[in-house]
Amino acid sequence: MAKEPVRVLVTGAAGQIGYALVPMIARGVMLGADQPVILHMLDIPPAAEALNGVKMELVDAAFPLLKGVVATTDVVEACTGVNVAVMVGGFPRKEGMERKDVMSKNVSIYKSQASALEQHAAPNCKVLVVANPANTNALILKEFAPSIPAKNITCLTRLDHNRALGQISEKLNVQVSDVKNVIIWGNHSSSQYPDVNHATVMTPSGEKPVRELVKDDAWLNGEFITTVQQRGAAIIKARKLSSALSAASAACDHIRDWVLGTPEGTWVSMGVYSDGSYNAPAGVIYSFPVTCKNGEWTIVQGLAIDEFSRKKLDLTGAELTEEKELAYSCLS
Ligand code: NAD
Ligand code: LMR
Repeated sequence: MAKEPVRVLVTGAAGQIGYALVPMIARGVMLGADQPVILHMLDIPPAAEALNGVKMELVDAAFPLLKGVVATTDVVEACTGVNVAVMVGGFPRKEGMERKDVMSKNVSIYKSQASALEQHAAPNCKVLVVANPANTNALILKEFAPSIPAKNITCLTRLDHNRALGQISEKLNVQVSDVKNVIIWGNHSSSQYPDVNHATVMTPSGEKPVRELVKDDAWLNGEFITTVQQRGAAIIKARKLSSALSAASAACDHIRDWVLGTPEGTWVSMGVYSDGSYNAPAGVIYSFPVTCKNGEWTIVQGLAIDEFSRKKLDLTGAELTEEKELAYSCLS
Protein backbone atom coordinates (compact mmCIF):
# COMPACT_ATOMS: atom_id res chain seq x y z
CA MET A 1 0.00 0.00 0.00
CA ALA A 2 1.28 3.48 -0.88
CA LYS A 3 2.56 5.53 2.05
CA GLU A 4 0.81 8.72 3.15
CA PRO A 5 2.66 11.80 1.86
CA VAL A 6 4.99 13.61 4.27
CA ARG A 7 4.74 17.41 4.25
CA VAL A 8 8.16 19.05 4.00
CA LEU A 9 8.60 22.78 4.50
CA VAL A 10 11.52 24.58 2.86
CA THR A 11 11.84 28.23 3.81
CA GLY A 12 13.84 30.51 1.54
CA ALA A 13 12.81 28.16 -1.25
CA ALA A 14 13.39 30.73 -4.01
CA GLY A 15 17.05 31.07 -2.97
CA GLN A 16 19.99 29.11 -4.23
CA ILE A 17 19.99 26.31 -1.64
CA GLY A 18 16.22 26.05 -2.03
CA TYR A 19 16.58 25.67 -5.78
CA ALA A 20 19.02 22.77 -5.31
CA LEU A 21 17.10 21.23 -2.41
CA VAL A 22 13.49 21.00 -3.58
CA PRO A 23 14.19 18.68 -6.54
CA MET A 24 16.24 16.42 -4.26
CA ILE A 25 13.30 16.17 -1.84
CA ALA A 26 10.84 15.59 -4.69
CA ARG A 27 13.06 12.78 -6.04
CA GLY A 28 13.09 10.94 -2.72
CA VAL A 29 16.71 11.74 -1.79
CA MET A 30 15.66 13.02 1.64
CA LEU A 31 12.96 10.60 2.76
CA GLY A 32 13.36 7.58 0.53
CA ALA A 33 12.39 6.42 -2.93
CA ASP A 34 9.03 5.06 -1.71
CA GLN A 35 7.99 8.11 0.34
CA PRO A 36 5.53 10.53 -1.34
CA VAL A 37 5.97 14.16 -0.34
CA ILE A 38 4.04 17.42 -0.40
CA LEU A 39 6.39 20.39 -0.63
CA HIS A 40 5.62 23.58 1.27
CA MET A 41 7.78 26.43 -0.01
CA LEU A 42 8.01 29.77 1.79
CA ASP A 43 9.74 32.94 0.72
CA ILE A 44 9.21 36.67 1.20
CA PRO A 45 7.05 38.87 -1.07
CA PRO A 46 9.95 40.28 -3.17
CA ALA A 47 10.78 36.68 -4.12
CA ALA A 48 7.17 35.62 -4.78
CA GLU A 49 7.49 35.60 -8.57
CA ALA A 50 10.72 33.59 -8.46
CA LEU A 51 9.08 31.20 -6.00
CA ASN A 52 6.22 30.70 -8.42
CA GLY A 53 8.79 29.95 -11.13
CA VAL A 54 10.26 27.20 -8.92
CA LYS A 55 6.76 25.78 -8.48
CA MET A 56 6.27 25.79 -12.26
CA GLU A 57 9.53 23.88 -12.69
CA LEU A 58 8.50 21.33 -10.08
CA VAL A 59 5.29 20.71 -12.03
CA ASP A 60 7.30 20.48 -15.27
CA ALA A 61 9.69 17.95 -13.75
CA ALA A 62 6.76 15.53 -13.20
CA PHE A 63 8.30 13.93 -10.11
CA PRO A 64 6.31 10.75 -9.38
CA LEU A 65 6.70 11.15 -5.59
CA LEU A 66 5.56 14.77 -5.52
CA LYS A 67 1.90 14.83 -4.47
CA GLY A 68 1.46 18.58 -4.09
CA VAL A 69 3.20 21.94 -3.85
CA VAL A 70 2.27 24.85 -1.60
CA ALA A 71 4.22 27.97 -2.66
CA THR A 72 3.46 30.93 -0.45
CA THR A 73 4.69 34.07 1.25
CA ASP A 74 2.31 33.43 4.16
CA VAL A 75 4.23 31.84 7.03
CA VAL A 76 1.10 30.31 8.60
CA GLU A 77 0.04 28.63 5.34
CA ALA A 78 3.62 27.44 4.86
CA CYS A 79 3.89 25.88 8.33
CA THR A 80 0.45 24.28 8.51
CA GLY A 81 0.65 20.52 9.01
CA VAL A 82 4.33 20.14 8.13
CA ASN A 83 6.15 17.03 9.39
CA VAL A 84 9.64 18.20 8.48
CA ALA A 85 10.80 21.83 8.37
CA VAL A 86 14.04 22.78 6.65
CA MET A 87 14.73 26.40 7.54
CA VAL A 88 16.92 27.90 4.84
CA GLY A 89 15.33 31.35 4.66
CA GLY A 90 17.49 34.26 5.65
CA PHE A 91 20.30 36.44 4.47
CA PRO A 92 23.49 34.66 3.40
CA ARG A 93 26.99 35.78 4.20
CA LYS A 94 28.74 37.68 1.40
CA GLU A 95 32.48 37.87 0.72
CA GLY A 96 34.28 39.66 3.55
CA MET A 97 31.45 39.25 6.06
CA GLU A 98 31.85 37.28 9.28
CA ARG A 99 28.95 35.10 10.32
CA LYS A 100 28.27 37.41 13.24
CA ASP A 101 27.46 40.14 10.71
CA VAL A 102 24.42 38.21 9.55
CA MET A 103 23.25 37.56 13.10
CA SER A 104 20.96 40.49 13.70
CA LYS A 105 19.11 40.06 10.40
CA ASN A 106 18.55 36.37 10.87
CA VAL A 107 17.75 35.80 14.54
CA SER A 108 14.67 38.02 14.37
CA ILE A 109 13.36 35.91 11.46
CA TYR A 110 13.84 32.78 13.56
CA LYS A 111 12.06 34.26 16.53
CA SER A 112 8.94 35.03 14.47
CA GLN A 113 8.96 31.74 12.53
CA ALA A 114 9.28 29.81 15.80
CA SER A 115 5.75 30.83 16.79
CA ALA A 116 4.30 29.90 13.40
CA LEU A 117 5.87 26.44 13.55
CA GLU A 118 4.84 25.91 17.15
CA GLN A 119 1.22 26.75 16.41
CA HIS A 120 0.74 25.20 12.98
CA ALA A 121 3.22 22.39 12.29
CA ALA A 122 2.24 18.74 12.78
CA PRO A 123 2.94 17.31 16.24
CA ASN A 124 6.47 15.93 16.42
CA CYS A 125 7.64 18.02 13.45
CA LYS A 126 11.40 17.66 12.95
CA VAL A 127 13.16 20.97 12.38
CA LEU A 128 16.52 21.50 10.66
CA VAL A 129 17.96 25.02 10.61
CA VAL A 130 20.37 25.67 7.74
CA ALA A 131 20.42 29.49 7.62
CA ASN A 132 23.34 31.12 9.38
CA PRO A 133 24.25 31.52 12.13
CA ALA A 134 22.71 28.04 12.03
CA ASN A 135 23.32 26.94 15.64
CA THR A 136 22.12 30.20 17.14
CA ASN A 137 19.13 30.55 14.80
CA ALA A 138 18.13 27.03 15.89
CA LEU A 139 18.55 28.01 19.53
CA ILE A 140 16.36 31.09 19.08
CA LEU A 141 13.76 28.97 17.30
CA LYS A 142 13.82 26.54 20.23
CA GLU A 143 13.55 29.29 22.86
CA PHE A 144 10.58 30.93 21.15
CA ALA A 145 8.77 27.66 20.41
CA PRO A 146 8.75 26.21 23.93
CA SER A 147 6.12 23.56 23.18
CA ILE A 148 8.22 21.96 20.44
CA PRO A 149 10.43 19.38 22.19
CA ALA A 150 14.07 20.56 22.20
CA LYS A 151 15.12 17.24 20.68
CA ASN A 152 13.12 18.11 17.55
CA ILE A 153 15.17 21.22 16.78
CA THR A 154 18.57 20.76 15.15
CA CYS A 155 21.01 22.61 12.92
CA LEU A 156 23.11 21.60 9.96
CA THR A 157 26.73 20.63 10.55
CA ARG A 158 26.49 17.66 8.21
CA LEU A 159 27.98 19.77 5.45
CA ASP A 160 31.12 20.23 7.57
CA HIS A 161 31.08 16.50 8.39
CA ASN A 162 30.87 15.66 4.69
CA ARG A 163 33.64 18.16 3.92
CA ALA A 164 35.86 16.38 6.45
CA LEU A 165 35.09 12.99 4.85
CA GLY A 166 35.90 14.51 1.46
CA GLN A 167 39.26 15.87 2.58
CA ILE A 168 40.32 12.52 4.08
CA SER A 169 39.22 10.64 0.99
CA GLU A 170 41.23 12.99 -1.25
CA LYS A 171 44.31 12.78 0.96
CA LEU A 172 44.29 8.97 1.03
CA ASN A 173 42.91 8.52 -2.47
CA VAL A 174 40.13 6.26 -1.15
CA GLN A 175 36.39 6.26 -1.79
CA VAL A 176 34.57 8.77 0.40
CA SER A 177 32.04 6.05 1.22
CA ASP A 178 34.84 4.05 2.87
CA VAL A 179 35.63 6.86 5.35
CA LYS A 180 33.45 7.23 8.47
CA ASN A 181 33.11 8.55 11.99
CA VAL A 182 34.74 11.94 11.65
CA ILE A 183 33.19 14.39 14.12
CA ILE A 184 32.32 18.05 13.86
CA TRP A 185 32.22 19.54 17.33
CA GLY A 186 30.52 22.82 18.18
CA ASN A 187 29.57 25.69 15.95
CA HIS A 188 28.99 25.74 12.18
CA SER A 189 31.61 28.47 11.94
CA SER A 190 35.36 28.75 11.59
CA SER A 191 35.68 27.80 15.28
CA GLN A 192 34.25 24.32 14.65
CA TYR A 193 36.54 21.40 15.44
CA PRO A 194 36.73 18.67 12.78
CA ASP A 195 38.07 15.68 14.72
CA VAL A 196 39.49 12.54 13.08
CA ASN A 197 40.68 10.83 16.25
CA HIS A 198 37.96 8.16 16.01
CA ALA A 199 37.56 8.12 12.24
CA THR A 200 38.27 5.01 10.20
CA VAL A 201 38.68 3.89 6.61
CA MET A 202 37.51 0.54 5.26
CA THR A 203 40.48 -1.09 3.50
CA PRO A 204 40.87 -4.52 1.84
CA SER A 205 42.43 -5.68 5.15
CA GLY A 206 39.65 -4.29 7.34
CA GLU A 207 38.84 -1.03 9.11
CA LYS A 208 41.88 1.14 9.92
CA PRO A 209 42.16 4.36 11.93
CA VAL A 210 42.53 7.47 9.78
CA ARG A 211 45.58 8.58 11.80
CA GLU A 212 47.34 5.27 11.11
CA LEU A 213 46.75 5.60 7.36
CA VAL A 214 47.44 9.31 6.94
CA LYS A 215 50.71 9.09 8.97
CA ASP A 216 50.89 12.89 8.98
CA ASP A 217 49.76 14.36 12.28
CA ALA A 218 51.00 17.81 11.28
CA TRP A 219 48.54 17.82 8.37
CA LEU A 220 45.70 16.31 10.43
CA ASN A 221 46.22 18.81 13.28
CA GLY A 222 46.80 21.75 10.96
CA GLU A 223 45.85 22.13 7.32
CA PHE A 224 43.07 19.53 7.44
CA ILE A 225 41.34 21.38 10.28
CA THR A 226 41.67 24.84 8.76
CA THR A 227 40.57 23.63 5.32
CA VAL A 228 37.32 22.25 6.75
CA GLN A 229 36.81 25.28 9.02
CA GLN A 230 37.35 27.70 6.13
CA ARG A 231 35.64 25.74 3.37
CA GLY A 232 32.48 27.86 3.43
CA ALA A 233 34.55 31.02 2.96
CA ALA A 234 36.62 29.35 0.19
CA ILE A 235 33.42 28.48 -1.71
CA ILE A 236 32.15 32.05 -1.31
CA LYS A 237 35.46 33.36 -2.65
CA ALA A 238 35.36 31.02 -5.63
CA ARG A 239 31.67 31.26 -6.53
CA LYS A 240 30.89 34.70 -5.13
CA LEU A 241 27.97 32.84 -3.61
CA SER A 242 27.81 30.52 -0.63
CA SER A 243 27.70 26.76 -1.08
CA ALA A 244 24.39 25.49 -2.36
CA LEU A 245 24.46 22.03 -3.92
CA SER A 246 26.59 20.60 -1.12
CA ALA A 247 24.44 22.34 1.51
CA ALA A 248 21.25 20.96 -0.05
CA SER A 249 22.73 17.48 -0.25
CA ALA A 250 23.88 17.64 3.37
CA ALA A 251 20.40 18.77 4.46
CA CYS A 252 18.99 15.64 2.79
CA ASP A 253 21.62 13.46 4.50
CA HIS A 254 20.78 15.02 7.89
CA ILE A 255 17.03 14.45 7.66
CA ARG A 256 17.36 11.01 6.02
CA ASP A 257 19.61 9.68 8.78
CA TRP A 258 17.49 11.29 11.51
CA VAL A 259 14.25 9.78 10.16
CA LEU A 260 15.49 6.49 8.73
CA GLY A 261 18.45 5.83 11.07
CA THR A 262 22.24 5.77 10.85
CA PRO A 263 23.95 2.58 9.64
CA GLU A 264 25.22 0.21 12.34
CA GLY A 265 28.63 1.32 13.64
CA THR A 266 28.41 4.75 12.03
CA TRP A 267 27.77 8.12 13.55
CA VAL A 268 27.13 11.50 11.95
CA SER A 269 27.42 15.09 13.18
CA MET A 270 24.31 17.08 14.06
CA GLY A 271 23.84 20.37 15.86
CA VAL A 272 21.56 19.47 18.79
CA TYR A 273 20.47 21.03 22.06
CA SER A 274 23.40 20.43 24.38
CA ASP A 275 22.92 18.58 27.65
CA GLY A 276 26.54 19.32 28.60
CA SER A 277 27.92 16.03 27.22
CA TYR A 278 31.72 16.17 26.82
CA ASN A 279 31.63 19.27 29.04
CA ALA A 280 30.27 21.32 26.16
CA PRO A 281 28.21 24.27 27.40
CA ALA A 282 24.64 23.17 28.12
CA GLY A 283 21.79 25.22 26.69
CA VAL A 284 23.29 25.97 23.28
CA ILE A 285 22.92 24.09 20.01
CA TYR A 286 26.27 22.29 19.75
CA SER A 287 27.39 19.80 17.11
CA PHE A 288 28.06 16.32 18.50
CA PRO A 289 28.55 12.85 17.08
CA VAL A 290 25.12 11.19 17.08
CA THR A 291 23.51 7.95 16.07
CA CYS A 292 19.86 7.85 15.04
CA LYS A 293 17.24 5.15 15.48
CA ASN A 294 13.43 5.22 15.30
CA GLY A 295 13.48 8.91 14.46
CA GLU A 296 15.50 9.93 17.53
CA TRP A 297 19.12 11.02 17.79
CA THR A 298 21.43 10.05 20.66
CA ILE A 299 24.80 11.63 21.42
CA VAL A 300 27.59 9.05 21.17
CA GLN A 301 29.09 8.85 24.66
CA GLY A 302 32.44 7.79 26.05
CA LEU A 303 34.81 8.90 23.30
CA ALA A 304 38.28 9.82 24.56
CA ILE A 305 39.07 13.53 24.26
CA ASP A 306 42.76 14.41 24.34
CA GLU A 307 44.20 17.73 25.49
CA PHE A 308 44.45 19.14 21.95
CA SER A 309 40.78 18.31 21.30
CA ARG A 310 39.67 19.57 24.72
CA LYS A 311 40.92 23.07 23.93
CA LYS A 312 39.15 23.07 20.59
CA LEU A 313 35.85 21.82 22.05
CA ASP A 314 36.04 24.59 24.65
CA LEU A 315 36.88 27.30 22.13
CA THR A 316 33.93 26.58 19.86
CA GLY A 317 31.67 26.18 22.91
CA ALA A 318 32.73 29.60 24.18
CA GLU A 319 31.89 31.11 20.80
CA LEU A 320 28.39 29.60 20.97
CA THR A 321 27.84 31.01 24.46
CA GLU A 322 28.94 34.41 23.18
CA GLU A 323 26.68 34.12 20.09
CA LYS A 324 23.75 33.28 22.34
CA GLU A 325 24.29 36.49 24.30
CA LEU A 326 24.70 38.49 21.10
CA ALA A 327 21.51 36.99 19.66
CA TYR A 328 19.53 38.01 22.73
CA SER A 329 21.00 41.51 22.56
CA CYS A 330 19.88 41.72 18.89
CA LEU A 331 16.34 40.73 19.90
CA SER A 332 15.98 43.13 22.80
P1 NAD B 1 19.83 32.95 -0.79
O1 NAD B 1 19.93 34.40 -0.50
O2 NAD B 1 20.08 32.47 -2.18
O3 NAD B 1 18.39 32.43 -0.36
C1 NAD B 1 17.79 32.79 0.84
C2 NAD B 1 16.33 32.92 0.59
O4 NAD B 1 15.71 33.21 1.83
C3 NAD B 1 15.98 34.08 -0.38
O5 NAD B 1 15.15 33.62 -1.42
C4 NAD B 1 15.27 35.09 0.53
O6 NAD B 1 14.27 35.83 -0.15
C5 NAD B 1 14.68 34.13 1.57
N1 NAD B 1 14.26 34.78 2.80
C6 NAD B 1 14.76 35.89 3.41
N2 NAD B 1 14.05 36.16 4.51
C7 NAD B 1 13.10 35.20 4.62
C8 NAD B 1 12.05 34.97 5.53
N3 NAD B 1 11.85 35.78 6.58
N4 NAD B 1 11.25 33.90 5.33
C9 NAD B 1 11.43 33.08 4.26
N5 NAD B 1 12.40 33.27 3.35
C10 NAD B 1 13.22 34.32 3.53
O7 NAD B 1 20.76 32.20 0.25
P2 NAD B 1 21.28 30.69 0.20
O8 NAD B 1 22.59 30.69 -0.48
O9 NAD B 1 20.19 29.80 -0.26
O10 NAD B 1 21.61 30.45 1.75
C11 NAD B 1 20.57 30.40 2.70
C12 NAD B 1 21.14 30.35 4.10
O11 NAD B 1 21.86 29.16 4.34
C13 NAD B 1 22.13 31.48 4.41
O12 NAD B 1 21.89 31.94 5.73
C14 NAD B 1 23.47 30.79 4.32
O13 NAD B 1 24.47 31.47 5.04
C15 NAD B 1 23.13 29.45 4.92
N6 NAD B 1 24.04 28.35 4.65
C16 NAD B 1 24.21 27.45 5.67
C17 NAD B 1 25.00 26.33 5.47
C18 NAD B 1 25.20 25.31 6.56
O14 NAD B 1 25.96 24.37 6.36
N7 NAD B 1 24.57 25.40 7.70
C19 NAD B 1 25.63 26.14 4.24
C20 NAD B 1 25.42 27.07 3.23
C21 NAD B 1 24.61 28.18 3.45
C1 LMR C 1 29.03 27.22 4.34
O1 LMR C 1 29.54 26.57 5.27
O2 LMR C 1 29.28 26.98 3.16
C2 LMR C 1 28.08 28.32 4.67
O3 LMR C 1 27.73 28.30 6.01
C3 LMR C 1 28.51 29.62 4.17
C4 LMR C 1 29.15 30.49 5.21
O4 LMR C 1 28.59 31.55 5.47
O5 LMR C 1 30.22 30.10 5.74
